[in-house]
Amino acid sequence: MTQILDTSYISLIRASDILRSWGLVAFPTETVYGLGANGLDAQAVAKIFVAKGRPQDNPLILHVSCSEDFDRYAKNIPEYARKLIDVFCPGPLTFVFEKSDIVPDMVTAWLSTVCLRIPHHTKTLDLLDILDFPLAGPSANRSGRPSPTSASHVIEDLDGRIDAVIDWGDTDIGIESTVLDCTGHIPVILREWCITWDMIDDILWYTMTDTVTDSKKSPGTRYRHYAPDLPIILTHLHQRADILHRISTGESVALLFLDSSIGTYNQNNIFAFDTMEDISHGLFRIFRECEKKRYTTLYIEKIPLEGIGRALMNRIEKAASGA
Ligand code: TXA
Ligand code: MG
Repeated sequence: MTQILDTSYISLIRASDILRSWGLVAFPTETVYGLGANGLDAQAVAKIFVAKGRPQDNPLILHVSCSEDFDRYAKNIPEYARKLIDVFCPGPLTFVFEKSDIVPDMVTAWLSTVCLRIPHHTKTLDLLDILDFPLAGPSANRSGRPSPTSASHVIEDLDGRIDAVIDWGDTDIGIESTVLDCTGHIPVILREWCITWDMIDDILWYTMTDTVTDSKKSPGTRYRHYAPDLPIILTHLHQRADILHRISTGESVALLFLDSSIGTYNQNNIFAFDTMEDISHGLFRIFRECEKKRYTTLYIEKIPLEGIGRALMNRIEKAASGA
């Protein structure tokens, strides 16, 4: 059985004891829950891959509590990255730098680079301050499942496979951090999520190259992220009335759409959202819910490709195609 810990200081001490003795503890962040282990200990990190069923050639993020830690675990941090660290840390931006020698190869899947991020979550920052090592942490789901946005999602996927989960309720954002490669003269987005292209460009004032899907640079792109147990079909506004009619006659399908004139309400199999941020908050939960309720299809109306809409559509299209 996996222990469920609250966020009291005593519980954080308990979590740190487990982590010090090579255990696995899932922790909340502002994006999704992470599955933590001592990031400087290959033996502890190896357990993450087993618990998740994650291929060992897909590297992990190291979570740290301050920017000084970046210089401990990375080398040759470029000036442009320092500007971004000042603006976006703590926050949902993950940096790829050349790795320093103390980072075990097990964390980076034998790459010469390492992913580093300061999560914007007071309790997890408190935990990191208690620890004298970084937390290696992928999202705390079984490989191929949607990332967990609550402790109960973590339990659904990993009960009995990990030692504990720190329960902080629902995460604020609900989708993963953006991964930015900072090993070259200009930054390159490897995974676009919370922090958009435009937000980074606004700070640096120069054009970056497009998102990279080269699996050598971005090992995560080799794997399916979320393989839904139910078909997901993309639709347009003009199909909405017909689908709502089918739902009203008792057909077991669900519909998700963005419509600021309606506002956010989730009732039975209708998921209407006021803003794109609201969609990102609910998306992974809805994937899980629709599977559990065994709807035959989840219809999702296409979202405009603006701001985080681009990242949302990228992920929804992947889920729809099973890629
Ligand atoms: O919001 C998040 O990023 C969450 C929370 C827990 O921090 N974490 C997360 O981790 O989503 P994970 O392992 O599910 O995704 C990390 C991504 C993977 O696609 C992995 O391939 C990539 O980052 N990655 C890790 N290290 C890398 C490296 N050295 N070079 C390129 N990509 C790397
Ligand atoms: Mg993941």
